[in-house]
Amino acid sequence: MIKETTDFIVIGSGVAGLRAAIELSRYGDVTVVTKDIPTESSTEYAQGGIAVALSDEDEVGIHYEDTLRAGDGLCREQAVRVLVEEGPELIRELISWGAEFDKEGSKLAFGLEAAHSRKRILHSKGDSTGKELERALISKVRTIPNIKRLPFAPAIDLIVENGNCFGAFVALERNPVAMLARATVLATGGTGQIYTITTNPQVATGDGASIAYRAGAVLQDLEFVQFHPTSLFLPSAPHFLLTEALRGEGGLLRNVKEERFMGKYSPDMELAPRDVVSRAILSEMQQTKSGHVYLDIRHMGEDFIRRRFPRVYSTCLRYELDITKDLIPVCPAAHYHMGGVKTDVNGRSSLHGLFAAGEVACTGVHGANRLASNSLLEGLVYGKRAGAAAFKYSVSKSEVKAMEKRVELKFLPHSIPDHDEIRGDLRRTMWQKVGIIRDERSLKEALEEFAGWRYILEKSFFTRRELELKNMIQLAMLITEAALLRQNSVGAHYREDHPQKTGDWMKHVTFVRGKAVYLED
Ligand code: FAD
Ligand code: SIN
Repeated sequence: MIKETTDFIVIGSGVAGLRAAIELSRYGDVTVVTKDIPTESSTEYAQGGIAVALSDEDEVGIHYEDTLRAGDGLCREQAVRVLVEEGPELIRELISWGAEFDKEGSKLAFGLEAAHSRKRILHSKGDSTGKELERALISKVRTIPNIKRLPFAPAIDLIVENGNCFGAFVALERNPVAMLARATVLATGGTGQIYTITTNPQVATGDGASIAYRAGAVLQDLEFVQFHPTSLFLPSAPHFLLTEALRGEGGLLRNVKEERFMGKYSPDMELAPRDVVSRAILSEMQQTKSGHVYLDIRHMGEDFIRRRFPRVYSTCLRYELDITKDLIPVCPAAHYHMGGVKTDVNGRSSLHGLFAAGEVACTGVHGANRLASNSLLEGLVYGKRAGAAAFKYSVSKSEVKAMEKRVELKFLPHSIPDHDEIRGDLRRTMWQKVGIIRDERSLKEALEEFAGWRYILEKSFFTRRELELKNMIQLAMLITEAALLRQNSVGAHYREDHPQKTGDWMKHVTFVRGKAVYLED
């Protein structure tokens, strides 16, 4: 087996991974491994923008309060404070590295999204904010000679001994390579692909959380999956996101009878929290026996729509939908995972030498429900913090050298001939039984189905599709177990058989492999 040694490994090249790599490059050589081309990530597709308290009418204290309110009682307050306080400085830094945000005259322009009490969403080229962040960060990385980038290199597993992490096994052209390092930062993003309907790109298969779980790291809050209310519903099109900024600018929801309905569900109407809007849409879809509702932005006017939402406009036009004139068919879609690898506010996981940042991590900053546009900011703030801590708390060089001699590959590759079929079944079951509304019966049925695939968890694979499937099965099981355990409804987790937000359950469901499932304050 090939063995390579570097100072630091970062797994993933979205906003969190790139920001961590830039920080770590101050202290040694960094290798960024990524599963696909460097830009393929949720970050690249982020539309609405990045929330930050920088406008004249805003204050970090108000951003803090809005974040806590969205989190529905389960945010870790220290983590939220770090996010809102450090966010403004990191945005200024990003601008100094060349990131461009839209302006009104000479001042930054701020948009509004659901559950924000101020206009605080910076956006770029209207609705291409993530692409601009990715561009600016990759340009910065290119100027740093000691950052090496390794695309098409899916991480297989972590190299762990006695609770210390020494890097990762990575598949390079289907061959496993042991990449040893003093510290490893997981920044593998989210898990949306475990659901049939998702806004997430193909790379979002929950690899990081599953890999960390297998290595013995603590995972938390896995039952909290955020469903975005509005993804495009067209038989010929993928579930492209219709940004919440469309509703922030006055977009209206109508059922298939073209009646507005949000007034029946929330005084905040179209700008109610995402879980409320998603459930309202589901209810209207059921009542009208339809697979979708409509988003109506026709009243905004053609010029404004084309200027403010050029990417949404041109994408829909490709499917012969002119959003300046037509109602847009939409349905909810799996969008963001609040849970993940439990870390402190420095990105430290429960394993020495392993750090996590961005969507794969659970700092507790989002609690039970993420405030819109807080995750790009989280990637910057906690990516930087994880990078700094990964240097500070790294394993020594001599320990890595010794580990290099000991490390060996203990697994042989297998194959799963029917992996596409299993993948489809898994995604459907997650959508139907562990989706926007769950109950004990649906969750138990899902677990029974997943049990038939347990044998896959015991095997090793070196191809991306098979590695992904193994990770998807692992995470689907854990999300379902967490959802079954939590007998209340809070934030994005809605149990039809336990609709109350019972106080006893205002704790965090926590998993450690082979040891325990427990509740933590
Ligand atoms: P990502 O950006 O997803 O990057 C993950 C990286 O890890 C990728 O490079 C991937 O290839 C790599 N990877 C995954 N598995 C492996 C593996 N096994 N081995 C090696 N590499 C691996 N948030 C906002 O704040 N504002 C928005 O406007 C917004 N809009 C969104 C729109 C869409 C369509 C989507 C899907 C999400 C949106 N979000 C938004 C959420 C936000 O984009 C993500 O939460 C955030 O970008 C996650 O950043 P990340 O760095 O953690 O992960
Ligand atoms: C959107 O643009 O609606 C997505 C914003 C987010 O997920 O934070």
